[in-house]
Amino acid sequence: MNAIIEKINAAMQQAEKDLAVAATLDEIEAVRIRLLGRNGLFPALSKEMGSVPPEQRRDTGNAFNSGRNQLQEWMDAARERLNSTAAVKTAAAMDPTLPGRRWNTGHRHPISIITDECVAIFRRMGFTVADGPEIEDVYHNFDALNTPADHPSRDVGDTFYFSDGRLLRTQTSPVQIRVMESHEPPVRIVAPGRVYRRDTPDATHGMNFHQIEGLYIDRNVSLADLKSVLQTFATEMYGPKANIRLRPHFFPFTEPSVEYDFSCMMCEGRGCPVCKNSGYIEIAGAGMVDPQVLRNVGYDPEVWSGFAFGLGLDRLAMLRYRINDIRYLYENDVRFLGQF
Ligand code: PHE
Repeated sequence: MNAIIEKINAAMQQAEKDLAVAATLDEIEAVRIRLLGRNGLFPALSKEMGSVPPEQRRDTGNAFNSGRNQLQEWMDAARERLNSTAAVKTAAAMDPTLPGRRWNTGHRHPISIITDECVAIFRRMGFTVADGPEIEDVYHNFDALNTPADHPSRDVGDTFYFSDGRLLRTQTSPVQIRVMESHEPPVRIVAPGRVYRRDTPDATHGMNFHQIEGLYIDRNVSLADLKSVLQTFATEMYGPKANIRLRPHFFPFTEPSVEYDFSCMMCEGRGCPVCKNSGYIEIAGAGMVDPQVLRNVGYDPEVWSGFAFGLGLDRLAMLRYRINDIRYLYENDVRFLGQF
């Protein structure tokens, strides 16, 4: 036994105690620095090895090495102990009976929901889905639809024109023309889509909105057929209590023309603020396709006849979800959209 071995033993005793109660990694690190660090005890003692008498060198060296190994083991054990108590603490903090967190998932837009519903209803009645461009030419949006040259809807104050003379379609009716141009009768299509008008936005007007166009061409089609399709649509959409009403109206491309109202689903026709006490809500324009329109696409009006309608999808969505301002549908506020 020599002074070096004694110092090692004393330091080891202290280190064992310290490491046994160490509560943080820093405390363990402090022990390491004190004994094994560059200015620690072990490096200092190793400098004194030269003064140890030769017969004691082996024992001293052994004490030195085994002390260092022993320290390493104690420190590993202390770290292990800290890790597992941390795990125990986390485990205690976790309550498996709490409800899980929900991810925010995307929602379908009310217009998309209503559009799909309408399409499904018309599909069951034998209609297929057609599509057309939102950037249209004047011919398809107006001329072919028999719209007079001085009709106010052509005005630059009502319609968005491009500098090349094309325009943003103001209605889905040009799809009627495109379908008839490219298909032989009979025709039975619906065409949902976006339309644009130069309106000042308010609670019931937007600069773009959505329509679903319907076109039915066959032999001997009558206004009664139109009425039955529209009644079936109303019943499918709003149940057996839904009533419809056709009012005479005018459109350049249908004759006769009607406006199509749903009985108000808020008050079931008794009268309320939503239907402005009329008991009915305007949903669509419709009518028998004007013979001139049939001629424009090369159909023989002596053989073929049909009806067309254009339903306002935004209106239907607002009624279904009791949305009182159309602008909610276009602001993309997630607090609004998240409700569907
Ligand atoms: N396109 C007309 C509108 O936007 C609606 C309509 C469609 C009328 C089909 C008759 C036939 O007002």
